[in-house]
Amino acid sequence: MSGLSTDWAHDAAAIRRHLRENAGEPDATFERRFDEHFPTLHGLFAQLYGERDDGLEQLASVVAEAAASWTARPLELKARDEQREQDPQWYLSNRMLGGVCYVDRFGGSIRGIRDSIPYFEALGLTYLHLMPLFESPDGNSDGGYAVSSYRRVNPALGTMDELRDLAADLRLAGISLVVDFIFNHTSNEHEWARKAVAGAPGYEDFYLIFPDRTMPDAYEQTVREIFPDDHPGSFVQLPDGRWIWATFYSFQWDLNYANPSVFRAMAGEMLFLANQGVEVLRMDAVAFIWKRLGTPSESLPEAHLLMRAFNAVLRMAAPSLLFKSEAIVHPDEVIEYISLEECQLSYNPLQMALTWEALATRDPRMLQQALERRHALPPGTAWVNYVRSHDDIGWTFADEDAAELGIDGHPHRRFLNDFYVGRFPGTFARGVPFQENPKTGDARVTGTTASLAGVEAGDPAGVDRVLLAHAIALSTGGIPLLYLGDEVAQLNDYSYRDDPDTAQDSRWVHRPARPAARYDERADAGTDAGRVFTGLSSLILARQAAPEFAGNDLVGFDPRHPCVLAFQRPGETTTVLVLANVGDDLALVDPLTLSGFADEATDIVIDAEIDLTRGIALPAHGFAWLRVTPR
Ligand code: GLC
Ligand code: GLC
Repeated sequence: MSGLSTDWAHDAAAIRRHLRENAGEPDATFERRFDEHFPTLHGLFAQLYGERDDGLEQLASVVAEAAASWTARPLELKARDEQREQDPQWYLSNRMLGGVCYVDRFGGSIRGIRDSIPYFEALGLTYLHLMPLFESPDGNSDGGYAVSSYRRVNPALGTMDELRDLAADLRLAGISLVVDFIFNHTSNEHEWARKAVAGAPGYEDFYLIFPDRTMPDAYEQTVREIFPDDHPGSFVQLPDGRWIWATFYSFQWDLNYANPSVFRAMAGEMLFLANQGVEVLRMDAVAFIWKRLGTPSESLPEAHLLMRAFNAVLRMAAPSLLFKSEAIVHPDEVIEYISLEECQLSYNPLQMALTWEALATRDPRMLQQALERRHALPPGTAWVNYVRSHDDIGWTFADEDAAELGIDGHPHRRFLNDFYVGRFPGTFARGVPFQENPKTGDARVTGTTASLAGVEAGDPAGVDRVLLAHAIALSTGGIPLLYLGDEVAQLNDYSYRDDPDTAQDSRWVHRPARPAARYDERADAGTDAGRVFTGLSSLILARQAAPEFAGNDLVGFDPRHPCVLAFQRPGETTTVLVLANVGDDLALVDPLTLSGFADEATDIVIDAEIDLTRGIALPAHGFAWLRVTPR
């Protein structure tokens, strides 16, 4: 075989012949999916690797891998594929609720996570993201985000067999297993990394290695620093003096996707995970996967071609699997990853950051603007809305948007950083700075929801702010995602400073071990844990019972009050009107403002009838979810 031809049908015939010769008569279902998706995959391959003389050979081996993976796919997963084909929008349901945790920190091990399934069910989870659980270096491994093998589970957590069993048990409990697909880089201990450094045939171009500083210096003219506390720039030096691309930690080496062997190898790892029963892959650091000299090497067009190509491979061999994009970048770029052909799901970092922005400023305008302007998505796709993640909060809003409201982005980010790390007078937040860069003045913020919201500081409004932030994340659409432990108001854990493996990375402050004492208090309404847990539980129940919350459609609403955020979630005949007061005083939304709705409404959180002709009074940091009928 040789390079790709311009005629996909010609190459399809060659690949079919090749498959027959090597693997016998292909399966009819696979044939059907091949016919449907091969033209797309071929087109993408031609754009990415059309110049290479091994293009067809590489494409043929990707397809062969997909065919073999389909053959090996367990029957219950094929059944799941069929079920999802009948109900392709399953993840847009208002019953969807995600939880995220570290296996070791929350459950000790994969078995421990299995023992928590009854709790997850009681909480209402339908989606469980277990953070990296693969083999990774001892000591600092960026919380497992440095992967040494995608096929072996970190022995401290369990085995791949246990993970497969866990996926099956979760499936029975109506919970989809989500794991990270950390495909921008591997750890320096991965077999590919060792071979690449040793110059083993076939692996020389798996990573980006340069003999001296010439190319690294040239790239660094335009590439931003991600972990400046660890190393300046984006390259680290190997013991032999050469330089290798490492965007994140020095032991996380970026893969070279300009080499189709890397695509082929990663497609194999992805299909392997799909066959373990994983239902969603969280595409880690997706913005960074393609590099080009003279550009920021983030969100380049080829990153999208690669994602589409991975997606086409999946549609052939594990069609029910979804991709979730982790692109924590400018909102114009975030949206580009979201489509049925690319990532069906995406974190919503803008809504997350602006929720905190509104709590600090007591001004909901930036969040209101983002909801009205940047919330819409292509049909069939969904946001994953969260209050905070295991990572830092970066102020990723668009300066242009802020400017329209008379806000200057640069000093505003400075203010937000100062506010959330406790440097601003009168702040309620107890966050910690992350990756402060003296060269650029950039910084990000870490802290648990409760600590950032004022609970740690003893602010009387802390618990209300925790609930308010969740009331927003649970009502704007898509899949809300809880950081497990936050539902019992877990606080910052400063012990990371005592451990040399974590001391340099302040994100560990908000990744505490399962807060057992607070979980024990969750039924006690006299405690912060109890108040947050009870409040959140009623929000979850109300959301599950409100079909208006399905999908992503959202319409703005003008509450005519400077501290109130307002939007509508339209259903078939009724609408849920969400009102949230980010201010420190009681806010009244007057009757005239509500006169477009019938007089009778229902507060769906407390299930009570209310009369809109009297207006709505929102306590400080209070909110309401109202089922209203447009006149
Ligand atoms: C993602 C992860 C983060 C990690 C980085 C490198 O952003 O969420 O925790 O440090 O990728 O893998
Ligand atoms: C950078 C990346 C983001 C990642 C974070 C980890 O902001 O853009 O993907 O989550 O670093 O700290």
